[in-house]
Amino acid sequence: MEPIRVDVTTASRAYPITIAEGAIDRAAGLLGDSRIPERRFIVSSPLVWRLHGARLSRALPGAEPILIPDGERFKQLQTVSRVYEALLRANADRASTIVTFGGGVIGDIAGFAAATYLRGVALVHVPTTLLAQVDSAIGGKVGVNHALGKNLIGSFYQPHAVVIDPSVLATLPRREFRAGLYEVIKYGVTSSATLFDRIARERTAIFAKQSDVLAPIIAESCRIKAAVVAADEREAGPRRMLNFGHTAGHAMEVVTRYRRFRHGEAVAYGMLVAAELAAARGAVADRDRKALAELIAGLGPLPSVADLTVEQMLDAMKHDKKMVAGRLHVVLPTAVGATTIVDDVTEQEMRAALENVGFKR
Ligand SMILES: NC(=O)c1ccc[n+]([C@@H]2O[C@H](COP(=O)([O-])OP(=O)(O)OC[C@H]3O[C@@H](n4cnc5c(N)ncnc54)[C@H](O)[C@@H]3O)[C@@H](O)[C@H]2O)c1
Ligand SMILES: [Zn+2]
Repeated sequence: MEPIRVDVTTASRAYPITIAEGAIDRAAGLLGDSRIPERRFIVSSPLVWRLHGARLSRALPGAEPILIPDGERFKQLQTVSRVYEALLRANADRASTIVTFGGGVIGDIAGFAAATYLRGVALVHVPTTLLAQVDSAIGGKVGVNHALGKNLIGSFYQPHAVVIDPSVLATLPRREFRAGLYEVIKYGVTSSATLFDRIARERTAIFAKQSDVLAPIIAESCRIKAAVVAADEREAGPRRMLNFGHTAGHAMEVVTRYRRFRHGEAVAYGMLVAAELAAARGAVADRDRKALAELIAGLGPLPSVADLTVEQMLDAMKHDKKMVAGRLHVVLPTAVGATTIVDDVTEQEMRAALENVGFKR
């Protein structure tokens, strides 16, 4: 299989994403092409390091590992501090590169450390979850949670390179894998009917995690995100469309304190809610709403929302970051492959959509 290269061009930096089975084993060459400092620190979690660390170590001889815990509850400033401390103890200077090796939590924490240590050192992401490979490793959002809310502390800091090797997904639990697939479905709905159809058609091969099937799907997701980020690095306009499914999704995460759902699972529900809203307005054909519901259902069961009340959800949405001047901005699908952003969804409409998706009246 030929490596696939996707270029991300933003005002702050241009960098390549390389997607290939075995990309990790060729990391030295890929990093060499980006001409970044050769003293490398790999920030990873104990689990990822145990599963795949030997491979990356072999590929990057001399790289120094820094292991930090990677649950969502460790995505906070204290963990960033642990990275600073390890860097300081090792006398890491400006001529250092941080290589993140893990899921979105590791990428966000270590990316923030890279953005702020000595006012910024070189950063490379080597994402190991499907979600990180299709989403969080691209686009430069780095940061951590605050006790008062998710992702409230952070920065935009583009990496110098992204190295994606689908073969590491072999060890990813099925639930985590599915969580990433929902974000791929999101790209299908916002930007590509072809990608959307492909997930339905190739479902069995996708779950078999064959690299030759996964690599093109990951690459297409990266292309879509790269194009959106190139047009709008700081989410002032078009990038907001990637929040499709994230309004109700984030509310679900808040209501359940980030404990019950994987982020992608919440987004799956959020997409269903947005599609209900759109269909009720006649903004999208009911056949497209159904196609989305069937594709999501076809990937397997989602944790139930039957005990979460519409009231709790509405309340959480009132505190959403996407609230601008008192109006909630919601991304609605208009077809498979196209969306629109509206700011006039009434409480009554939202209530009906939530009930239709299964939230408690
Ligand atoms: N920066 C962005 O633009 C952006 C975008 C989307 C999501 N995010 C963030 O990403 C985070 C979620 O990322 P995630 O879904 O990757 O979760 P995660 O980083 O928590 O990883 C999920 C679990 O998978 C394990 N794991 C990682 N790679 C593995 C592998 N190859 N085999 C077996 N287990 C493996 C991890 O140890 C962890 O337990 C959230 O904090 C979210 O806010 C950021
Ligand atoms: Zn998301």
